[in-house]
Amino acid sequence: MKFENLLIEIAANYATITINRPKKLNALNIATIQELHEAFKSLDADATVKAIIITGSGDKAFVAGADISEFAHFSVEEGERLARNGQEMLFNFVQNLKTPVIAAVNGFALGGGLELAMASHFRIASDNAKMGLPEVSLGVIPGYGGTQRLAQLIGKGKAMELVMTAGMISAEDALRYGLVNYVTTQEELLPLAQKLISKIARNSSVAIASAIKAMNDLYTDGVNGFETEIIEFGKCFGTTDFKEGTSAFLEKRKANFPGK
Ligand code: COA
Repeated sequence: MKFENLLIEIAANYATITINRPKKLNALNIATIQELHEAFKSLDADATVKAIIITGSGDKAFVAGADISEFAHFSVEEGERLARNGQEMLFNFVQNLKTPVIAAVNGFALGGGLELAMASHFRIASDNAKMGLPEVSLGVIPGYGGTQRLAQLIGKGKAMELVMTAGMISAEDALRYGLVNYVTTQEELLPLAQKLISKIARNSSVAIASAIKAMNDLYTDGVNGFETEIIEFGKCFGTTDFKEGTSAFLEKRKANFPGK
């Protein structure tokens, strides 16, 4: 995989996508959003990839937002199209990926950057990270799912305040709010993600995919997540992973999941 704006590293059982526009603080232009779609799609199809880390290059930013220079002159129609295409192509796509996605927030995660971190399955941050949705300071609102996912993750009152003030919160505040799961030093950020992945990779990837689907359906309009859970639970009984997991337990050995 060769991309203009991304670096992809594939290790034994996981992959790292690094958004690589450090001079623009990794701002998400349309080309980068398209490349991210392609990268996530092909890594999701690779059975050896048990989890994906998304991070930013350099030591200053994860992603400092959507690329402001690209949409500054957009019309109403173009603005709506930008948000719709972006949500479909990247943000909803990542949320619904079968493979777990961990955002390693290594600096500024603003606007589209925080929205990308929030679309990921969970987040960890370095202690220099700063997070916010500053769009109203530009006369626009978050368009890549931010008004919805921030309230889902930290509650409506805090989300309202953060969006209205266009403020930034520290990594420690993000931890307190439940927006990120862990805060560590910048040096320890990727090693921590790898440690978490080593725990994830021991488990059944088909069961994890089912769990992601059921948990996402808590927030899917018109769908009852409890019903999804029942269907996905039932499906597990038809998998080789289930046979292996239960046999391994009964035989008092470690499971070796084929991921089927
Ligand atoms: N879109 C386009 N370019 C961006 C960008 C964005 N969202 N964020 C940063 N950049 C660019 C800057 O224009 C600058 O480019 P230049 O060197 O060609 O002028 C470069 O990245 C470095 O940014 P700079 O502002 O000089 O760094 P800083 O350390 O002084 O400030 C921030 C860092 C993150 C506080 C500041 O860049 C910022 O406020 N960015 C916009 C954040 C935002 O509003 N995001 C939501 C967009 S919807």
